Amino acid sequence: MNISTRARNLVPSATLAIGAKARQMQAEGIDVIGFAQGEPDFDTPEHIKEAAIQAARDGFTKYTATGGINELKDAVAVKLKRDNGLSYTRNQILISCGGKHSLYNVFQALLDPGDEVIIPAPYWVSFPEQVKLCGANPVIVHATEPQGFRLNRQVLEPAVTPRTKLVVLNSPSNPTGAALSRTELEGIAALAVERGFAIVSDETYEALVYDGYRHVSIASLGDAISARTVVVNSMSKAYAMTGWRLGYAAGPAAVIQAMDGLQGQMTSNPTSFAQRGAVAALLGSQESTKRMREEFAKRRRYIVDRLRGMPGIRCHSPEGAFYVFPNVSGLYGKRYGAKTIVNSTEFTTFLLDAARIAVVPGVEFGSDSHIRISYATSMANIEKGMDRMAEAVAALA
Ligand SMILES: Cc1ncc(COP(=O)(O)O)c(C=O)c1O
Repeated sequence: MNISTRARNLVPSATLAIGAKARQMQAEGIDVIGFAQGEPDFDTPEHIKEAAIQAARDGFTKYTATGGINELKDAVAVKLKRDNGLSYTRNQILISCGGKHSLYNVFQALLDPGDEVIIPAPYWVSFPEQVKLCGANPVIVHATEPQGFRLNRQVLEPAVTPRTKLVVLNSPSNPTGAALSRTELEGIAALAVERGFAIVSDETYEALVYDGYRHVSIASLGDAISARTVVVNSMSKAYAMTGWRLGYAAGPAAVIQAMDGLQGQMTSNPTSFAQRGAVAALLGSQESTKRMREEFAKRRRYIVDRLRGMPGIRCHSPEGAFYVFPNVSGLYGKRYGAKTIVNSTEFTTFLLDAARIAVVPGVEFGSDSHIRISYATSMANIEKGMDRMAEAVAALA
């Protein structure tokens, strides 16, 4: 059988390759510390599990409405009002099988072949691939390190053309953790309204922000920008629910209806009893999210300090998420055994071999000068991993 051009053109994930190598080393009894995972190391809070278990026991195990149960859409509406100052009705909300699925639905609903989509780099790996699956063209703009990887109107504007259909925002960002200020968002919103493009605002990491930073949703900046924005969010990171596969989108009713139609032909509804768990998560106590945030804040401070203490490495302190994105290009040209390190993939292999720590090369995210380190692992692992990395880096010739 011949594989479709579409499937063949997908870029294979180097993250998975690193993960496979790390797992193989672990299977051989080598003690590898994983800093590559993009998921909280905390368990899903009990009251969320209980709600889903009870729902399954009650026989809530059949198909639901394609776009999610009304109870969950209402809970999402409450959350968006409470946390973001946004007002949406049921017909403006769609529940999907993960934020990734919500994003896929939005792109499929809005993009035609030949449309241009501006994606700020460093970007989350799925954005360009999902855009390409629509036959649309990703246009990469670079948010620079001296500006803390943050985007603004001046960076975006030169990339806007009459074919620009939408701009993807991801604040706080995976992989950099950078989060946009209200002023930066206002500038981008004004440009979107003037030039007539849409915004897809991926707010998956909004609950994980530090040092008093307050997340702002671009859709809250007025009716004009709200009418051209689809907000995407996920249960995965804020509630440690990665395996539950639940995300949601909120936006203009016509877009949500189109997404619902697509979902109806692809997956149908997200898992029935998992949706009941999500209701408990959104409407119940937010204490566990707060505790997770406080723990991540401690780890972030520690890991940034340690990285800054390593010669040849620069590390910006991010506003949010659970990643740091240090610049390691100051060590390119150094020798490790018989090899010379010249890019982020080789640096990652060096860390795996010499320090037995698994990270993700920045080239995956559109920047070959960096690596991504996830601090969604215990403080003990972080301390041990940073000790090993410092030792390995100091031994480079
Ligand atoms: C930026 C970003 N958006 C969306 C997602 C999707 O999360 P999920 O599909 O688990 O809801 C992720 C997951 O890693 C992410 O990093």
